[in-house]
Amino acid sequence: MVITLLAKKGGVGKSTVCLLLHEAFKKAGKSVAIQDWDAQGTSTRALSLIDSQRVMPNGEYDVHLYDTPPGLEHQATAAAVRSADIAIVVTSPAPADIWEAAEAVEFVKANNPDAVVRVLFNKVRRNTLLGRLIEESGKNVGAPVIPVHLSARECYQHAVG
Ligand SMILES: Nc1ncnc2c1ncn2[C@@H]1O[C@H](COP(=O)(O)OP(=O)(O)OP(=O)(O)O)[C@@H](O)[C@H]1O
Ligand SMILES: [Mg+2]
Repeated sequence: MVITLLAKKGGVGKSTVCLLLHEAFKKAGKSVAIQDWDAQGTSTRALSLIDSQRVMPNGEYDVHLYDTPPGLEHQATAAAVRSADIAIVVTSPAPADIWEAAEAVEFVKANNPDAVVRVLFNKVRRNTLLGRLIEESGKNVGAPVIPVHLSARECYQHAVG
C-alpha cells in the first residue's frame, strides 16, 4: 500500500506526519518504508536518526510512505500522487492553508481519481478560534477529514511516552 503525503504549502507538517505514521505502522507490526521525494530530504535524514533500518524503496513492505516537496508543480509530487493508494493532504487550520488544501485535493482527483483522498489538519490548537472551527472548515476542503482529536505532536508524545 502506498500512502502519499502532500500539500501545496510548505511547512504544514508533511514530513512530521510521514515520520509519525512510520512509527505508528511499526508499532502496529507492519513493515514500512519512507520514500522521500523531496530534495530537502527531511524525512530521510530524520529517519536515519530514529531508525537504523536501511530504506529500500523497491523492497517489499506492507506500507510505503511517500513524502513530497512543497508545491503541486513538482514532477515528483505528481508521480507520488499517481502511485498512491491513499493520498493525505496535510494542512494547518489557517484559512489560506485550507484554501490550498482544497486545491491539493483537486490535484489528487485530477491525477489519480482512484486514490482515496483525505485531509489531515495539523498544528491544531483547540484553544484558539481556528482550532475550534476546524470541523466547520473541514466541510470546504472537498474530501473527508481525518478526525482531529490530537495534534501530531500530542500523538507523538502519547506514542513515545
Ligand atoms: N503538530 C505540530 N506541532 C508543532 N510543530 C509541528 C507540528 N507539525 C510539524 N511541526 C513543525 O513544523 C515545522 C515544519 O514541519 P515539517 O518539516 O514536517 O513540514 P513540511 O510540510 O514537511 O515542510 P516542507 O514543505 O518544508 O517539506 C517543523 O519545525 C516541525 O517540527
Ligand atoms: Mg517536508
